[in-house]
Amino acid sequence: AIDIKTLRARTGLITLDPGYANTGSCTSSITFMDGERGILRYRGIPIQELAQQASFKETAFLLIHGSLPTRDELTQFSEQLTDYSPVHENMRLFFQNFPPNAHPMGILSSMVNSLRSFYPEIANEDEEIKVTVTRLISKIRTLAAMSYKISMGYQVIYPRPDLSYCANFLHMMFDSTVRPYELKEEVVHALRVIWILHADHEQNCSTSAVRLVGSARVNLYAAISSGITALWGPLHGGANQAVIEMLEAIRKGGGDCRSFVERAKNPNDSFRLMGFGHRVYKTYDPRAVIMKEVCHKLLGALGRSDALLDIARELEATALEDEYFISRNLYPNIDFYTGIAFRAMGIPTNMFPVMFAIGRLPGWIAQWLESIRDPHWKLSRPRQIYTGPKETAYTPIDQRV
Ligand code: ACO
Repeated sequence: AIDIKTLRARTGLITLDPGYANTGSCTSSITFMDGERGILRYRGIPIQELAQQASFKETAFLLIHGSLPTRDELTQFSEQLTDYSPVHENMRLFFQNFPPNAHPMGILSSMVNSLRSFYPEIANEDEEIKVTVTRLISKIRTLAAMSYKISMGYQVIYPRPDLSYCANFLHMMFDSTVRPYELKEEVVHALRVIWILHADHEQNCSTSAVRLVGSARVNLYAAISSGITALWGPLHGGANQAVIEMLEAIRKGGGDCRSFVERAKNPNDSFRLMGFGHRVYKTYDPRAVIMKEVCHKLLGALGRSDALLDIARELEATALEDEYFISRNLYPNIDFYTGIAFRAMGIPTNMFPVMFAIGRLPGWIAQWLESIRDPHWKLSRPRQIYTGPKETAYTPIDQRV
């Protein structure tokens, strides 16, 4: 037998795998996914059971520490989340100086990265990890709500110790001295389920970004900031915003779903049905199954209707009957229905990817921790197949044509 290092040294052999579609970048005991059968489990627990019974805090603890918390552990975790929730007063100046139309994902990734400047490293490594992890889960919620409040010119609201993680976020987003926000059970429930469904998804683009950047041994804030940046893209977490924009365009165009499906099929048109397709799922995304139900129940409980939900249903039915989508195993993914739920909650459209980021944070942290503790840890440094010119002489500027 010959090991891969020796083989590489002797042959110069490099594997080329565009988009890493068939490359395992790590071993992991966090999340199990079966894309053919539509199975998703965190630390072995099916996503359906967590969505039904767990709190978001419990799910975060499970992903990060490997098992569900005891009552004492959960109480301690909750108290720490409340303690860490305020952000340094000087960080407000950052918010105030972003242009009014700055995208909230750009703001969030910058703010998270800047946390290291405000909260310097603790010398004891275990303590540093413990504090940084909890601080981040707490402060991302404050930063997201604060960015909304400041952009609207409203007073910043801090969390209440008696509220759950999800209820507190809604409180911080929407409560004000002028108009107190009524916390509705159905809205809190929907947000809890959505954040649990988003909490981890093995080696997706943003998680791989966190691991790759983290492999250079940057601090956790910087690694997470890179994950937020990757998530921003419309092919990844930005898809929830793109779905709503697409559904709006269909509505404004008179509700003709068929013409959008036809556009998505046209190889000469770069348009794709947003919220459709997945690198790993070749069947219905199990999270989308739950999301569709959450949307339906939330709107029902709030006594609201949304034309976009009807359009989404019709678009889904049209695509799922179409040979193009059938033959390519293209089904709705989680992003297809989340935007409609966020709209019903009153979340502004450009904040949808931020909502995804808050939910995904525990997964990013768990994956980062697993990677830095991996005894086989290595700096991530892929290779390439060079296709440029052979050695070429330098041409002085006045001889160039
Ligand atoms: N609409 C129309 N056609 C599609 C779509 C879509 N949404 N998704 C894939 N296809 C087609 C491709 O054009 C390709 O067709 P071809 O074989 O004729 O060339 C085939 O299906 C395979 O597509 P790939 O791009 O090779 O699949 P990949 O695994 O690389 O892409 C992705 C996955 C990026 C998610 C893709 O399905 C897509 O762009 N979807 C829309 C954006 C979206 O919803 N992103 C969210 C993903 S979930 C998440 O990140 C949380």
